[in-house]
Amino acid sequence: MSDVFDLERLRADTPGCAAGMHFNHSGASLPSQSTLTAMWDYLRKEANDGPMEAANSATSLLEDVRADTAALIGAKPSEIAFLGSGSTAWGAAFSALPPLVAGDRILVGRQEWGGNLATMQDAAARAGARIETIPVHEDGSIDAEALASMIDERVRLVSLTWLPANGGLINDAAAVGRVIRAAGVPYFIDAGQALGQIPIDVAALGCDVLKAAGRKFLRGPRGTAILYVRQEFLPRLTPRYLDVLSGPMVDGVVKIRNDARRFEAGEISPALIFGLGAAARQARTLGIAAIRDRIKILANGLRDNLRNFPNVTVRDLGIELSGIVSFTVEGIPATQVRAALAERQIAIGANGVPYTPLDMIARGLDQIARASVSYLNTLPEIDRLSEAIADIARRA
Ligand SMILES: Cc1ncc(COP(=O)(O)O)c(C=O)c1O
Repeated sequence: MSDVFDLERLRADTPGCAAGMHFNHSGASLPSQSTLTAMWDYLRKEANDGPMEAANSATSLLEDVRADTAALIGAKPSEIAFLGSGSTAWGAAFSALPPLVAGDRILVGRQEWGGNLATMQDAAARAGARIETIPVHEDGSIDAEALASMIDERVRLVSLTWLPANGGLINDAAAVGRVIRAAGVPYFIDAGQALGQIPIDVAALGCDVLKAAGRKFLRGPRGTAILYVRQEFLPRLTPRYLDVLSGPMVDGVVKIRNDARRFEAGEISPALIFGLGAAARQARTLGIAAIRDRIKILANGLRDNLRNFPNVTVRDLGIELSGIVSFTVEGIPATQVRAALAERQIAIGANGVPYTPLDMIARGLDQIARASVSYLNTLPEIDRLSEAIADIARRA
């Protein structure tokens, strides 16, 4: 495989690569030493100078991170807020939309993340609104043309999980954007599995809101997420709550910020944000297109192997596939497959219905095993993972 980056160095700079084989980058990836150092250096500064005192000199560096993460998705820094998790970011934007009323409609992709769905379902049930699933093509991907025919004046939101949690599908989020932009309906994208894995350009996607956690393919720390809100869309979102950063009182009047930080808490952890910044800079230096190419080769290699094994079924939908390889083993629950691999020092994920309920139910699946591949993985690792799965499946 031709490599544009120095894999040996990148792996040596990742403590987790020495510990075992990590194929759970869609759950949370392995941070690099530079990410750990960025966090640790700042924590030490907080301990020495006092946390509030350290923060005074951190302000402009935090803005550098905002610029670096904005550049990752083609946004302006003022369109980025830092939050603690993907779901918190999504919920902050959703709850800031005008309240739903009876008869309103929300249209969602079939692979919508379960947490987003629960948030929408709860709000819809209280208002007498309804959630409708956008039809899919035969290959399981979203059908943007079918979506066009569903739009009417009662649609309040279209929400799409771009790369689902339960498999390698890459939905055509830009095609959805083209349909929606014409209709002027708010469009939210859950890019949790896309950030750091595939190129993201919010203008090309045509979305109003996009969010992603930092800990997945980007290799940032847990407890970080970015929320993008398109500048022109911002006035349509009123945060459910404010604090002294997002909406300070000036002369008795609340002044809600006019940038995405209207969703950011005044109290965030600079150490985590610096870790996120180090990860974002590393990804940009490597090049997301090169990362995508390498992941594609490795993940498709794994799929090719799995397809040849008796008792193993690859469960990925779609044609152009991501680094998330989903599969089932006849007669062995995914959680057991995960445990059997963990005994061999190989980490993978296992998803049940709650992460992607609409899709799992539509396909009659109750669990899938999920091996997610990073550019950090190697071909020999893919072979060892494949052999281990074949061995587990043989014993089924
Ligand atoms: C597509 C997708 N959306 C949302 C989430 C939830 O993100 P968080 O756990 O940061 O709230 C996940 C987590 O795996 C995910 O895969």
